[in-house]
Amino acid sequence: MFKIFIVLALLGCALAGTIPKAPIPPADDLDGRIVGGIATTITSFPYQISLQRNGFHSCGGAIYKDTIIVTAAHCLQNVSPASLKVRAGSTYSDFGGSIVKVASFKNHELYSKQTSANDIAVIKLASPLPLSSTIQPISLATTSPANGAPGVISGWGVTSFGSNNVSSQLRYTDISILSRSTCSSSAYGYGSFIRSGMICGFAAGKDACQGDSGGPLASDGILVGVVSWGNECALARYPGVYTDVATYNSWVVKTANSL
Ligand code: ARG
Repeated sequence: MFKIFIVLALLGCALAGTIPKAPIPPADDLDGRIVGGIATTITSFPYQISLQRNGFHSCGGAIYKDTIIVTAAHCLQNVSPASLKVRAGSTYSDFGGSIVKVASFKNHELYSKQTSANDIAVIKLASPLPLSSTIQPISLATTSPANGAPGVISGWGVTSFGSNNVSSQLRYTDISILSRSTCSSSAYGYGSFIRSGMICGFAAGKDACQGDSGGPLASDGILVGVVSWGNECALARYPGVYTDVATYNSWVVKTANSL
C-alpha cells in the first residue's frame, strides 16, 4: 500500500519532470545513485532534510531557519500538512535524526504544473529543529550563480531513471552550474522549456533524479537551487533543471514570515 504510494509519488514527479520530446537514446550505463554520486553523511550536508509523506521519503528540502524548510512546489501538490513530516539530522531517509511535524506550507502562487515554472515552496514546521552539527540552516542566494560555477547536489533519490531503488543513505555529486541562457542554448536539448527563474546543473553521468526533488543545489555553502525537473536523468544533452533561488529570495523571505 505505502509502496504503491511512493511509486505514484515518483511517477507523478517523473511525469511532471518529463518534457514533450523528440526520440532520445536510452541513457548509457547509469550506475550512480543521485545518479553518478557518492555515499555521504549528514554532517557534510547538515542543511539537507527528507520530506516524509505518510511516513516515507518523498522529496528533499533545505533548512532555511529552524522552523522553515525550502522545497519544490511540485512536491506539495494534493497533500495536506497533516500527512507531512520532516526528518532532519539523519544520513538515512528511513531512520534516525529528528522528526518534526509540518504546521503549514505555501507553494509559489505562480507555480505551473505544465511548465514547472516557479517550482518553489516554503514549509513551516510545528516545532523548531534542534540545531546541531547535523542540523544547520543554509543561506539563500541573493544573486544567480555564474555560468560554470561549482555546485553540489545531495539526496535520497533513485539510483537511475526508471528504477525503483531509492537510496536509504544520503548521496551527493558535484556538478557545474549552467546559467539559464547557456542551458536554453542549442548546446543542450531544452530550448525554451528553460524559463525565467530556472538554472541548470550538468556533469557527464551525474545528475539529480526522481526522489531528489525539492532538495538543495549549493554553491560555496549557499543555497542556489532547488531540484526541480529534467528529461530522465543524466542524459548527455539534458542537464538537471533547478529553481533559481536568487530569483525567489524575497518571495521565500516574505512567505516564511507569513506562515
Ligand atoms: N521531479 C523529480 C523529483 O520529484 C526530480 C527530477 C530531477 N531530474 C533531473 N534529471 N535532475 O524527484
